[in-house]
Amino acid sequence: MNFDKICVLGMGYIGLPTASTFATHGVRVVGVDVNRQVVETLQNGGVHIHEPGLRTLFQAAYKSGNLTISPQPEESDAFIIAVPTPFKEGKKADLEFVVSASEAIVPYLKQGNLVVLESTSPPRTTIDVVAPILEKSGLKAGEDFHLAYSPERVLPGQILRELIDNARVIGGIDKASSDAGRDLYATFVRGEIICTTATTAEMVKLMENTYRDVNIAIANEFSRLAARFGVDVWEAIELANRHPRVEILNPGPGVGGHCISVDPWFFVEAAPDLTPLIATARNVNDAQPQVVVDMLQSALTDLSGKRIAVLGLAYKPDVDDLRESPAVEIASQLAEKGAIVVAYEPYKLDAQFPKFSMAQTLEEALSGADALVLLVAHAPLKNIAPEDVAAKTKARIAIDAVNGWDAAAWQAAGFSLSRLGVGTDHNPLSTTH
Ligand SMILES: NC(=O)c1ccc[n+]([C@@H]2O[C@H](COP(=O)([O-])OP(=O)(O)OC[C@H]3O[C@@H](n4cnc5c(N)ncnc54)[C@H](O)[C@@H]3O)[C@@H](O)[C@H]2O)c1
Repeated sequence: MNFDKICVLGMGYIGLPTASTFATHGVRVVGVDVNRQVVETLQNGGVHIHEPGLRTLFQAAYKSGNLTISPQPEESDAFIIAVPTPFKEGKKADLEFVVSASEAIVPYLKQGNLVVLESTSPPRTTIDVVAPILEKSGLKAGEDFHLAYSPERVLPGQILRELIDNARVIGGIDKASSDAGRDLYATFVRGEIICTTATTAEMVKLMENTYRDVNIAIANEFSRLAARFGVDVWEAIELANRHPRVEILNPGPGVGGHCISVDPWFFVEAAPDLTPLIATARNVNDAQPQVVVDMLQSALTDLSGKRIAVLGLAYKPDVDDLRESPAVEIASQLAEKGAIVVAYEPYKLDAQFPKFSMAQTLEEALSGADALVLLVAHAPLKNIAPEDVAAKTKARIAIDAVNGWDAAAWQAAGFSLSRLGVGTDHNPLSTTH
């Protein structure tokens, strides 16, 4: 199948790179978003999200004339839906955006078109939610138009490369739909394109993220056990991972982002009777911010009135994405317990929160602090020299929740450093005997 013109609905972290990549590969693309500010920014040649290389790629696509930005779809050969799928109260999947994007396509849907859902979705969404909406056009899915699900598996920070190089799964509601999807993505995908059913493809994406969540949960439990037994969990994991069939992930302050911390709930909602392990893992990871709050509480004795410099708010290193971030949860919990929290997030200086304030510089965060806590291993925060920090603050209590700092160097600079997953009885000399 040939695709001269496509519409991509949702100009976010996934839709914008996808639309730009199609456009720079010679396809005419209409990038659609319902957020007026997003549309205006893009129409003025700007980019509203931080992703390495995206501004250059988008501007090349836009200047070529192949990519236009619009608040609504147009008639096209294919439509790609890349809108958010967050959860709402009670950890239930919020399909509002998938529904509204599908409805927006209906007036423009023609015989022979292809529609692809890329948003991470609960099992059977393509068949049970998207198909019936599109069929309001009077056309029948599988007979008059093709319909497929294709999960996006890119890593923020590396989206542009992974979009092209990763293997891509295409799940059609029938073989012709899978084939059409394969033809579409073959425009730029260099990784293997594997065709399957729509519901299998939906499950593949959810299984990938659930697998990681469950494995992070066990790493977090190991960190709690290590702290209790006077062991350094980071050392123990490194040694355990020397086993040829063991690969324990890193513990940390919790699991965030709008994928791994959200997607497993889609399984739990869809089949609560079958998912006790998945639900427990989610709850273990959701309780991890409390572990960090407890570390600060025990280091400071009383949090009330104490000024705490929170370093890093993003959900993972070197991205500007704060969605579902455990660091934000920790900062909020500290503030709720009476601490005066000043957070420094080098990649998102303009973020605002009701319960705590934001510093524009590291110096501002450190000034007057009683304690500092490293919550994200951003390169600029990991690499700060403890002597420089000591010169900028009277605080001598430091917490490292991400194994980002060299304990000996911080101790030598006069700090009392507590590390997540390291028991107080742990004697670093024991590692050298
Ligand atoms: N960000 C990632 O790294 C990543 C990775 C894999 C999968 N995903 C999945 O991809 C999907 C999109 O995620 P994202 O990070 O790009 O989201 P995002 O929030 O960055 O962007 C989504 C955009 O869609 C727009 N939108 C909402 N409703 C719309 C509609 N009806 N029509 C047109 N536009 C609409 C929003 O205004 C927003 O600009 C989600 O399901 C997510 O789980 C994301």
